[in-house]
Amino acid sequence: MVVSKIIISRPVPLSLSFLHSLASSKMKFQAMELLFGKNTPKQLIPKVTLLAVFAILVFTITPLSYPLFRYSSSSLKKNGSNQPSSSAFDDLNESASLPSTSIKKCDIFTGEWVPNPKAPYYSNKTCWAIHEHQNCIKYGRPDTEFMKWRWKPNGCELPIFNPFQFLELVRGKSLAFVGDSVGRNQMQSMICLLSRAEWPIDVSYARDDYFMRWKYESYNFTMAAFWTPHLVRSKQSDSKGPGQTGLFNLYLDEPDEKWITQIEDFDYVILNGGHWFTRSMVFYEEQKIVGCHYCLLENVPDLTMYYGYRKAFRTAFKAINSLKNFKGITFLRTFAPSHFENGIWNQGGNCVRTTPFRSNETQLEGLNLEYYMIQLEEFKTAEREARKKGLKYRLLDTTLATLLRPDGHPSRYGHWPSENVTLYNDCVHWCLPGPIDTWSDFLLEMLKMEGVRSAQEKLRLDKV
Ligand SMILES: *[C@@H]1O[C@H](CO)[C@@H](O)[C@H](O)[C@H]1NC(C)=O
Ligand SMILES: *[C@@H]1O[C@H](CO)[C@@H](O)[C@H](O)[C@H]1NC(C)=O
Ligand SMILES: *[C@@H]1O[C@H](CO)[C@@H](O)[C@H](O)[C@H]1NC(C)=O
Ligand SMILES: *[C@@H]1O[C@H](CO)[C@@H](O)[C@H](O)[C@H]1NC(C)=O
Ligand SMILES: *[C@@H]1O[C@H](CO)[C@@H](O)[C@H](O)[C@H]1NC(C)=O
Ligand SMILES: *[C@@H]1O[C@H](CO)[C@@H](O)[C@H](O)[C@H]1NC(C)=O
Repeated sequence: MVVSKIIISRPVPLSLSFLHSLASSKMKFQAMELLFGKNTPKQLIPKVTLLAVFAILVFTITPLSYPLFRYSSSSLKKNGSNQPSSSAFDDLNESASLPSTSIKKCDIFTGEWVPNPKAPYYSNKTCWAIHEHQNCIKYGRPDTEFMKWRWKPNGCELPIFNPFQFLELVRGKSLAFVGDSVGRNQMQSMICLLSRAEWPIDVSYARDDYFMRWKYESYNFTMAAFWTPHLVRSKQSDSKGPGQTGLFNLYLDEPDEKWITQIEDFDYVILNGGHWFTRSMVFYEEQKIVGCHYCLLENVPDLTMYYGYRKAFRTAFKAINSLKNFKGITFLRTFAPSHFENGIWNQGGNCVRTTPFRSNETQLEGLNLEYYMIQLEEFKTAEREARKKGLKYRLLDTTLATLLRPDGHPSRYGHWPSENVTLYNDCVHWCLPGPIDTWSDFLLEMLKMEGVRSAQEKLRLDKV
């Protein structure tokens, strides 16, 4: 196997900060939205007004520091090694490459979108994995500029996804996308990006769009999607409910067995969730009703959607931490804001912009902010617990980059104009090709950093 040498660049203070200081907001994000799914009638939904507005958000998560590094083009060949191929970083001379005092850390998740004339790297003609509802070019989206951007972190570069490098890193491994259809959207983006190297074969256990499994045979790499919009066990108890978008029973202390029973052998698990928590829900704990979100049931206190959202992630993380044989890395892919403007999703709201925002043109607020903060808080707690057991948690912190892409959604180009679809103007999912492709840039960079991190951890141990 070709082993690449890591080069650490520039020293910088430690911290993964989400620092986002912004001018006044141009957009008010509407709280109500929903994803395509089973049983989703196109009907009314209550309007929720959210007032939380923060000018500056600073989160410092010390264990999550991201060193900047690049792969050297002069790769080293490793001979006669008895080490497994996954240890691509063993050549790193820790004491030489990682001066203990200061190492350049770059928060790859804070930055701006900059033009990239070379993009996109696939099209609807070269990739069959594009979901119909995200095949924007097929359905007549006239503008193409939205495909021609890349993410530029402040203070470093984020390399464009290299499918060969990625597959080399995940050789013999497996990756699970656990969550809603935005997670599936990400997996399909990744299949298209990887197609330059190899097409996967379908090794799904059943013919179910919601639970696909793909295998990259020459790399022995498996990728699977698990559809679990609430992460915890949930059941639709009424197709209408007060909001006319269904009433769901959520068993907040029970992880959804559709994924938790399946992921034990996976090396990487990417969790996501959010859009489904805006609907009416009744919350159960220990099999008793404890409250709800907009259920309008007598004697059931409204605990807000945020209560359910927090508990769902808490339960999901706890369940992962309790798995006996799980040795994988848990990624939280943070909430991906939608971009309905001039109305909520079923009241004429739409996303018609054709260029990204600069970071000073919008800000995280309302539901997006609440969701994001809940995720970070639950993640931190879970990560602390996990570390005691030697389990790794990583934040795939896509929220800011995603917030800045109001232009990346299908809008009305996810279907024929005559088609009767739930989300007529889809400002939730992402056109392919499109901004969601960048999530793979992030993921690859994070996987590369795993080597540096384990080296750092070793180094830290050595010094004790
Ligand atoms: C490494 O392998 C190549 C052939 O694959 C050989 O030419 C070279 O001498 C080997 N180097 C060492 C240090 O074993
Ligand atoms: C690593 O680098 C240090 C400092 O340059 C050097 O003293 C040491 O011998 C190197 N170790 C190995 C295993 O190459
Ligand atoms: C791809 O998009 C074109 C429009 O540019 C459309 O005519 C064609 O049907 C699409 N093909 C597929 C396979 O989606
Ligand atoms: C493929 O990877 C799996 C782990 O994902 C491993 O158990 C299996 O032995 C590998 N097969 C080959 C042929 O390397
Ligand atoms: C945002 O920043 C850019 C460049 O830094 C500047 O040209 C622009 O005027 C700023 N916009 C706002 C709304 O502050
Ligand atoms: C669209 O679908 C909904 C629910 O499936 C149905 O109630 C409505 O009548 C349909 N509208 C049209 C124009 O077919």
